[in-house]
Amino acid sequence: MDLGLTGKRVLILGGSRGIGWYTARLMRQEGCAVGICARNAEDVSRAAEELRAMGRGVVFAQAADLAQADSTREVVSAAVQALGGLDILIHNASGFGVENTEEDWHRSFEVDIMAGVRAVDEALPALQASGSGSIVFVGSMASKFHFGRPPSAYGAAKAAVRTYANELAQTYGASGVRANVVSPGAVWFPGGSWDQRKQANPKFYAAVEKGIPLGRLGTGEEIARIIAFTASPAGIWLNATHLIADGGQVAAVD
Ligand SMILES: NC(=O)c1ccc[n+]([C@@H]2O[C@H](COP(=O)([O-])OP(=O)(O)OC[C@H]3O[C@@H](n4cnc5c(N)ncnc54)[C@H](OP(=O)(O)O)[C@@H]3O)[C@@H](O)[C@H]2O)c1
Repeated sequence: MDLGLTGKRVLILGGSRGIGWYTARLMRQEGCAVGICARNAEDVSRAAEELRAMGRGVVFAQAADLAQADSTREVVSAAVQALGGLDILIHNASGFGVENTEEDWHRSFEVDIMAGVRAVDEALPALQASGSGSIVFVGSMASKFHFGRPPSAYGAAKAAVRTYANELAQTYGASGVRANVVSPGAVWFPGGSWDQRKQANPKFYAAVEKGIPLGRLGTGEEIARIIAFTASPAGIWLNATHLIADGGQVAAVD
């Protein structure tokens, strides 16, 4: 199946590591011009070098803090300019507010929700001009599943993004812009949060694996493929949709 991604211009917010990085690599393999940002400037440059080495086409990379309004708006606008427009916006970064503190609630609100709102504001004219504009938010199964840990901002912020994506889809579908959310379950990749948990608490990790019908955690590559399909022209009939990509971990019907 041809995803129709060749030549598309993609911006991934939070693309230097983890799921965002696997998605950036896959988009390059599919022939896209790719923009990424993250806070750590060294990681951003290293990632950009690797993406450039993968082939022709523009690679835009800039350090930015998505918790800051100006930084978010500036990096999105610079990316749209450098890429010569925008077809796909992927908001992947999270504030990971898993502590029930004011600081974590504010960081989650800024990074998970407001960075998405600001990025869409900045990118919308370019996405509308694209003819195949597509917005994907990386959510989490925590937006519908209680892990048994104390209340926190993480799942609540991801749930708010699902409502926002539906509103975008309903409002801008007529101008050719789709919006969807892909919510991973637990995903393992080297150096990621589940890799750290595996090393710190192997018994807990093994119990999580056992609870997933497929008997293991997902991988960065597997989630990237689902994000890429959802974002791509091949996924055009996905709009206002929430996809759970968890190997059956949530154990619920919808
Ligand atoms: N991994 C999982 O098991 C899992 C499960 C469910 C959902 N998810 C969701 O998937 C997404 C990616 O998770 P991940 O595990 O791949 O995370 P990760 O490995 O921590 O990578 C996060 C990326 O976002 C960047 N980032 C974080 N905060 C940022 C900020 N304030 N401004 C700019 N960039 C920022 C990071 O770079 P810097 O740190 O340099 O900024 C990095 O490039 C998140 O939305 C997460 O909620 C992950």
